[in-house]
Amino acid sequence: MYSEKVMDHFQNPRNVGELEDANAVGEVGNPTCGDIIKLYLKIDDDDMIKDIRFRTFGCGAAVATSSMVTELVKGKKIDEALTLSRDKVAEALGGLPATKMHCSNLATEALQDAIEEYRKDKNAKKN
Ligand code: FES
Repeated sequence: MYSEKVMDHFQNPRNVGELEDANAVGEVGNPTCGDIIKLYLKIDDDDMIKDIRFRTFGCGAAVATSSMVTELVKGKKIDEALTLSRDKVAEALGGLPATKMHCSNLATEALQDAIEEYRKDKNAKKN
């Protein structure tokens, strides 16, 4: 049912935890299943994601997609990170069962949420 990559990221998730010096945090919950993802980002002055961690209280697919999202956007500029879709995440994981595709929304939405917050803060500081 799950690809080897999904199982690997579920059993050995990358970048788990919190970042004390995070300057962007995104949190998204799925009201249907109750699962929650929280992403912590450290973004530098050039808008590059220097570091990223996550905490996921959710199903195996939510853990695996969170782990993959952190790997895909670490070292990327935030504009590029924003183009990451749930389909790209699922593809990088070797596919997800159709009934689990909704789980991959959480990590990408948490990423968008964190970047939006970061941009708001940055603009507020400019003004
Ligand atoms: Fe809730 Fe997968 S069942 S995120």
